[in-house]
Amino acid sequence: MRRPIEEVLQSPEGTEVEVWGWVRNVRRHGKLIFLDLRDASGIVQVAVKGGVAEDSALRVAESLRRESSVKVTGTVKLDERAPSGVEIRCKRIEVISLAEEDYPIRPKIGPKKLYDYRHLHLRSPKIASLMRIRSNLLEAFREFFRSRGFVEINCPSIITAAVEGGSTLFEVNYFGKKAYLTQSVQFYQEAAIFGLERVYSIQPSFRAEKSRTTRHLSEFWHIEAEISFADLNALMDVVEEMVNYVVNRTAETSYREIKSLNRSVRTEEVERPFPRIKYAEALEILERRGVRTYWGIDLGADEERVISTEFERPVFVTHFPKEVKAFYHKVDEEDPRVTLSADLLAPRGNGEIVGGGVRIDRYDQLIERIYQFGLDPKDYSWYLDLRRYGSVPHAGFGIGVERVLKWILDLPHVRTACLFPRTPTRVTP
Ligand code: 4AD
Ligand code: MG
Repeated sequence: MRRPIEEVLQSPEGTEVEVWGWVRNVRRHGKLIFLDLRDASGIVQVAVKGGVAEDSALRVAESLRRESSVKVTGTVKLDERAPSGVEIRCKRIEVISLAEEDYPIRPKIGPKKLYDYRHLHLRSPKIASLMRIRSNLLEAFREFFRSRGFVEINCPSIITAAVEGGSTLFEVNYFGKKAYLTQSVQFYQEAAIFGLERVYSIQPSFRAEKSRTTRHLSEFWHIEAEISFADLNALMDVVEEMVNYVVNRTAETSYREIKSLNRSVRTEEVERPFPRIKYAEALEILERRGVRTYWGIDLGADEERVISTEFERPVFVTHFPKEVKAFYHKVDEEDPRVTLSADLLAPRGNGEIVGGGVRIDRYDQLIERIYQFGLDPKDYSWYLDLRRYGSVPHAGFGIGVERVLKWILDLPHVRTACLFPRTPTRVTP
C-alpha cells in the first residue's frame, strides 16, 4: 500500500513501506545508488544497494534520470547521515515513467528560463510550499468573510464598460462586438448588495498596464468586498480586522511551509489599530522626506514606499483628490476637493495592498461625474439604475492576493506568488 513520504519519515526502523513519487536526483557509487524521492508530502533518501535490493532494482536505479516517476518498496532505516535522518533500504523499484535525459531545470539556470519552464519548475518543494501558503491565505480570507456574514458571489469577467479607467483594459472580440476583461467586479457587487447586503468575491482581475514594477501583474487574483450602509470608517474597520485576521491565521496554518522557506511572518506588523492619515498629511510626509509633491499628484510606488516606511503597521491613506480616483468615488461633503477613499499601504516599502472607498449613491451626482470623466452614460445604464431604485450608502474595497503574499513573505516580485504569472512580457506557459 502506498504511503506518503511524510508518514515514512515518522515510521519506526524496520517498517516495510511503499512510496510513489519523483526522483529528484540520483547519486551513483558503484553498487550503491542513492535516490532522493519526492512526493507532495516530503523528500526521502532511498538507498539501492547490491545484495540488499533485488538485482532488477539495481539495474533500474542505474537507468533512472531526474524527475522519473517510480514506485519504491523497502524498509525504513534510521540513518543520521541521511538528510532527513531516515532512509528507505530499497528492495524493489518499478518505473512508472522514465524521464527524458534533458530535464531543463539545472543548477545555475537564469530566472527568465525558470519562468519559461514554470510548468516543470513548480514541482520544486519551494514553489509547492508557496502555493500551500497561498491556499491557506485564501482560506483565511474566506473564514473571515463568512464569520462576518458576507456571502461569496461569482461575477462575470467579460464586461463592456471600464471600472478603473479605460487605459488598462484588455479588449475581447465578443462575437464581433467589443468587450473587455474586467479590472474589478465592484459594479456587480454593488448590484448584489441590494439582495445580500454584504458580499465578497475571489476572482482574477485584468490590467493592461505596461508597468514593469515588482508589484504589477496583467492578471492578478482580486479579493473584493462590498458593504451596504457602510461609511469610510466602517469600511476601514473591516479592512483592518481582515488584514489582522488573515495574516495571523496564515502564519498559524502555514507554520511549517513558512519555516521551510526560511521566512517568518511578522505578525506584530498587523497589531491593531492601523494608523489612518489623510492624503494631505501624506504629502506633508513626502515633503519632509525631500520628495517634491503638489496637490493632485497620484501616489505611485516611490511615494508609497516613502510613506509606508514612516510606519511600523499598515497605514491607511484617505481622502484622495477627485482627480486621482475613479468616477464612482463619493465626494466628501466637508471638503469637495477630495473623495471618501482609502488605500492601505503595507509596511517596509511594500506600498498599496488595498484600494477602496465610499461609492456615490445618488443618481444626479453619479451622472455628473460620468460626464465630467468624459464617459458615456449609456455604457453605465444598469449601474445608474442602482441609484434609481432604493439606493443606499455603501462602500467596498479590493485587495490583491499576490501583493499580500509579497509583503508577508518578503518575495522579490508578485509573480513569485503566482502559479503561472501573467505580466506584460509573459503570457506563457
Ligand atoms: O486600487 P484598485 O485598482 O481598486 C479597484 O479595482 C477597486 N474597484 C476595488 C474595489 O473597491 N472593489 O485595486 C485594488 C487592489 C490594489 O490595492 C492591489 O492590491 C491590487 O488590487 N492590484 C494589483 N495587483 C497586482 N497587479 C496589478 N496590476 C494590480 N492592480 C491592482
Ligand atoms: Mg488603487
